[in-house]
Amino acid sequence: MRKPVIGGNWKMNKTPQEGVELVAELRDDLGDMADVEVIICPPYPALLPIGSELAGGNIKLGAQDLYWEKEGAFTGQVSPGMLRACGCQYVIIGHSERRHVFGETDAQVAKKVRAALDEGLKPILCVGELLAEREAGETEIVVKRQLEAALAGVRGEEISTLVIAYEPVWAIGTGRASTAEDAQDVAHFIRRTLAGLYDREKSEAVRIQYGGSVKPENVKFYLAEADIDGALVGGASLKAAVFAQLIRNSTGR
Ligand code: PGA
Repeated sequence: MRKPVIGGNWKMNKTPQEGVELVAELRDDLGDMADVEVIICPPYPALLPIGSELAGGNIKLGAQDLYWEKEGAFTGQVSPGMLRACGCQYVIIGHSERRHVFGETDAQVAKKVRAALDEGLKPILCVGELLAEREAGETEIVVKRQLEAALAGVRGEEISTLVIAYEPVWAIGTGRASTAEDAQDVAHFIRRTLAGLYDREKSEAVRIQYGGSVKPENVKFYLAEADIDGALVGGASLKAAVFAQLIRNSTGR
């Protein structure tokens, strides 16, 4: 059984203080949500205070990116070990904004995935096509290329520690969510690709999220699909009450 996993990607929002207040409210609102794993991914400066606030509870902490080197002259970068020291268990890698706003390549994504695993961080690996790629019928080609590149250095026994987030770029922050059926088709394709790269049993253990304009109102349709095990949520994770409702709705409560 794959445990549902809902991630909140705050992107470049919230000061440390605002973030601590949000997670305190979220924790009080949710209580003991043992049937779904919740991961909060704040900006770097908020990681440490939020890590302290969440310590001992069941909401997990994730970062939005990392750099693959351990330390050194890499101005502006943050290492996997630093994220661990802040209490992170997860890290988003290859988000579409990293790829398309900051020009991150498949090869860089692969290095980040490897570096995260080497430090004991669980990658939330994002893949997804641009609108022009979808319209050209290239969704599977793009997603397969992104997966093969990112997972080139990942061994079979490691693959189940990853979460794969399928996020069509045209659905992110646009209010234009994918239909659950279309998201399921790509999630199923991702699982088949993983089965090809590893084996069927291993592919069945990997959790696949859908991301892109997920809201409290539509989350349950994605979670109802056979190959979708959760959601990666941007805008709707920025208010505690809204995100708590989304999490509750994801499990049908
Ligand atoms: P959104 O963002 O929910 O605001 O569309 C999703 C994401 O970028 O992970």
